[in-house]
Amino acid sequence: MLAEIADVGRDPVRGGYSRPVFSSGERTLVDWFTDAATRRGLDLTVDRNGIVWAWWNPAGAPLQDAVVTGSHLDSVPGGGAFDGPLGVASALRAVDVLQARGVQPARPLAVAVFPEEEGSRYGVACLGSRLLSGVLEPERALALTDADGVTYAQSLTAAGLDPAAIGRDDETLGRIGTFVELHVEQGRGLIDLDAPVAVGAAILGHGRWRISITGQGNHAGTTLMADRRDPLLVAAEVVVAVRRIAGRHPGARATVGRIQPVPGGTNVIASRVDLWLDARHVDDLVTAAVVAEITAAAQGAAAIEGCAVEVRQESLSPTVDLDPQLGARMARTLGGAPVLDTGAGHDAGVLAARVPSAMLFVRNPTGISHSPEETVEDVDADRGALALADVLADLLAD
Ligand code: GLV
Ligand code: MN
Ligand code: MN
Ligand code: MN
Repeated sequence: MLAEIADVGRDPVRGGYSRPVFSSGERTLVDWFTDAATRRGLDLTVDRNGIVWAWWNPAGAPLQDAVVTGSHLDSVPGGGAFDGPLGVASALRAVDVLQARGVQPARPLAVAVFPEEEGSRYGVACLGSRLLSGVLEPERALALTDADGVTYAQSLTAAGLDPAAIGRDDETLGRIGTFVELHVEQGRGLIDLDAPVAVGAAILGHGRWRISITGQGNHAGTTLMADRRDPLLVAAEVVVAVRRIAGRHPGARATVGRIQPVPGGTNVIASRVDLWLDARHVDDLVTAAVVAEITAAAQGAAAIEGCAVEVRQESLSPTVDLDPQLGARMARTLGGAPVLDTGAGHDAGVLAARVPSAMLFVRNPTGISHSPEETVEDVDADRGALALADVLADLLAD
């Protein structure tokens, strides 16, 4: 199935795939999904927040207490082929397996595709599930802008959605009895365990901060070194401090993956630099301490260079324990699958606050993700989809 979309949204410059939400690449994948779901006899709906639902409800029961699976089809810039699409393709494959087995679900089953899981276009990860569950104000989402200044409201309109309608949607949430997201594993956990599939346990708390450093834009040739107030120099010090400070807190992960100097000319001393900090730890207090230390380091470096610093939190997700009873039940169904924490964020982590949620991870033999080197072997993809089918069958029998 993934071979059918292997050419969509390839990034010739970065390598891998760049499929930001509401780009033509991501929309092509959503069309691919709706076609594939329709071919399987599923009923398609799109909710107020742009989440696409494919329903299998042979008993004609009311759309409530549904078993829901699915993932996302957007990607980070230069991402791999599996982060998101593996969960969606596996969900469709699991439907095939259940249909071939002659399963007649006693509860509705749905496959869901969530927009802007990565937050790579609008800066807030899991935007669709946050809006659905009401942890993000619609006004804030609508005003978010991408790198070209296009607002989320404009993107929604262009995609045929109504910006005025987004926000907490208890009717849709109320239909979900259980949510299970299958995902490529994004680290080395399953390699180390020598196992193809694991059940998810905790999702590390994580957040994003924008650090804006303001200096004096000037001429690269005429400005003496002693006269400069160069925010890019401060940014460099911040990047070094991030590594140093995170290294002092066992288990912390802190990253600067994006820096934007303004105006960004070779012969121009920047007037401002924006950089984005991603910080994570299983203990939310440690994440806060790491960010506070980085903020202090940035302020110190800025003072020496005559620059100003502003640190703004763009998103924060506390550590989430996925439903332990559901996880234990799934591990039993799978004959004793291992249980694994993850440092990556997921819509399942957002939904977990409102509905029993669980995850399945599928081995990634490189242990690398958010990179073209992310991979899954065919045999493991198959094991993952069959594991998902078994889990869904068990849940649907209730
Ligand atoms: C999303 O994949 C994230 O964890 O950043
Ligand atoms: Mn993902
Ligand atoms: Mn991702
Ligand atoms: Mn993710």
